[in-house]
Amino acid sequence: MEKKLRSSTKKNDLKIELSSYSIKKLEKQALVRGFSSSTDYIKSLIKKDEVKRTRPKNDFKNSKKPKIIHRTQRGQILYGDSLNWLHNPKNKNSTNLIITSPPFGLISKKSYGNEHADDYCEWFRPFAEGFEKVLKSNGSLVIDIAGVWIKGNPVRSLYHFDVLQMLCKEYGFFLCQEHYWWNPGKMPSPASWVTVNRVRVIDAINCVWWLSKSPNPKASNLNILRPYSEQMKRVLKNGIKSGVRPSGHEVTQKFLKNNGGSIPHNLLAIANTESNGSYFDYCKKYNLPIHPARFPGSLPDYFIRFLTKKGDLVVDPFGGSSVTGFVAEQLGRKWRSIEMNLSYAIGGRGRFLEKKPYRPLISKYEIPSPGTFYPED
Ligand SMILES: C[S@@+](CC[C@H](N)C(=O)[O-])C[C@H]1O[C@@H](n2cnc3c(N)ncnc32)[C@H](O)[C@@H]1O
Repeated sequence: MEKKLRSSTKKNDLKIELSSYSIKKLEKQALVRGFSSSTDYIKSLIKKDEVKRTRPKNDFKNSKKPKIIHRTQRGQILYGDSLNWLHNPKNKNSTNLIITSPPFGLISKKSYGNEHADDYCEWFRPFAEGFEKVLKSNGSLVIDIAGVWIKGNPVRSLYHFDVLQMLCKEYGFFLCQEHYWWNPGKMPSPASWVTVNRVRVIDAINCVWWLSKSPNPKASNLNILRPYSEQMKRVLKNGIKSGVRPSGHEVTQKFLKNNGGSIPHNLLAIANTESNGSYFDYCKKYNLPIHPARFPGSLPDYFIRFLTKKGDLVVDPFGGSSVTGFVAEQLGRKWRSIEMNLSYAIGGRGRFLEKKPYRPLISKYEIPSPGTFYPED
């Protein structure tokens, strides 16, 4: 029996006729992709198509090809606009992992003061399209993105959530799992809200969106195990009582298998205090600016080991000081670090002068329960 599915956009009314089988398939797709209805899903496909059609053709063909600034056995620091690389047909389906931290300051420069994140999404669109082009079907896209405050008010912009929605709803990415990078050393800011008026708490996390082109990208948490806790070591030694816990979880003897470590949580506790020795020395020697928004190597280290294998290609299209490239090189992955600021791109060379092999900082933090001190009592 034929069923009718009606979907409308603001500009024109669209009528589509589909078989029950196709409708079911469409509804399933919509659900898997996080849409609340098949109509919303169709609307997003139309929007995606509109975006593609209205973009001038050969956008990036005439832009300058990024120049190689540094080359190693496995990778290159490229100086130039990463859009050129991302839209170069030669790089189609080449990449196993894009891990990057886009310039989130942009929103504050351009449109701080009005809470519209639209400018940021507009700016991001050609990158989103490029990411989709260069990633392999089982590849991952990992975006480290910080929230920002709306100027003059103790409230936050929604831009990083809008980018996430856009990537999934317009570009067909799947949200595999959110991670949160907790920087325990983060300073209290903005001071007026946190330390002066005391109406907000310290903003110490960045959102890290892990996305993929298919629901099952390459991944193995066996590559990122962390040391067992003392309690787990005791359990492994002395055994455990099987049964259903009050939480409803069934504890079986399978828990006693020693896998060499425990599975990490999606809260990544990493202080941004790693040594940048050779990088700093190099920048100082050649009077180059130190990149002000570096992420710690532990961040790409975690995702590269989690989501790729040796020999895979890792790309950072907002390469900055080439932290990603350096870590990827050390882990035996091929890599490209693309940076449009010449001084930052050149500075990245300094990382490769490091004599010691890269190892993430080993640290352990306690997280006390929140708000256990009652000054009102
Ligand atoms: C947040 S920083 C990345 C820092 C980097 N993760 C690190 O640890 O050094 C973002 C960088 O993207 C660069 N950038 C912005 N637009 C770009 C583009 N179209 N192509 C290449 N680089 C770009 C900026 O110059 C800036 O250095």
